[in-house]
Amino acid sequence: MATEYERVTLVDHPMVQHKLSILRDRDTSSKKFRELVKELALFEGYEATRNLPLADVEVETPLCKTTCKKVSGKKLAIVPILRAGLGMVEGVQELMPAARVGHLGMYRNEETHEPVEYYAKLPEDIADREVIVVDPMLATGGSATAAIGYLRKRGVSGTIKLMVIVAAPVGIETVLAADDDVQIFTCAIDECLNDAAYIVPGLGDAGDRIFGTK
Ligand code: PRP
Ligand code: URA
Repeated sequence: MATEYERVTLVDHPMVQHKLSILRDRDTSSKKFRELVKELALFEGYEATRNLPLADVEVETPLCKTTCKKVSGKKLAIVPILRAGLGMVEGVQELMPAARVGHLGMYRNEETHEPVEYYAKLPEDIADREVIVVDPMLATGGSATAAIGYLRKRGVSGTIKLMVIVAAPVGIETVLAADDDVQIFTCAIDECLNDAAYIVPGLGDAGDRIFGTK
């Protein structure tokens, strides 16, 4: 579904909304939380890959030869922002098993809320790939903006897709203002951030809930 933001797609399929409600629940276990993040990433992946180019291919069915379609164009790379982004990788990989995976490590300084970069390992040919960045939470937008900026420095051109599960308006606006060729996919646009820069109502700390660290 289109949103008030030109480059933001809200993935609000009823099953997505149902699963997101369970994800938000503070009593949902870490195991269930991981399963839901993976499933939501798969649903979102369908939307994020909707415009992939297709090419004709000849296929021989048991009955005859026919012309069908296969995905063509640039190869894909999935780039999770560590840690929480890791929870979305498997879901997207189910859709695109051949995609390469690059990792960007970033955590937010608890006082300034600014992202701190601590790791980067990308496919060597990242500049030639179409890139989908994944991270469940888009709060201030600092981490996603830094990740996209890093990818641009590594030569990634064209539209970078950013898949998140919950976004705050300020995070969306920050990412869109920093790069004019980003397309954001989200399952929800929440109300605001609290004083600790957590999304409200949100779902808490996604990384901690995925990895059971709190
Ligand atoms: C979370 C989340 C995003 C970031 C979003 O990561 O997964 O990367 O915060 O916040 P922002 O939009 O204000 O930058 P966190 O820093 O908690 O690290 P973690 O994934 O290792 O838990
Ligand atoms: N990171 C999270 O994991 N949750 C938030 O609400 C904000 C940043």
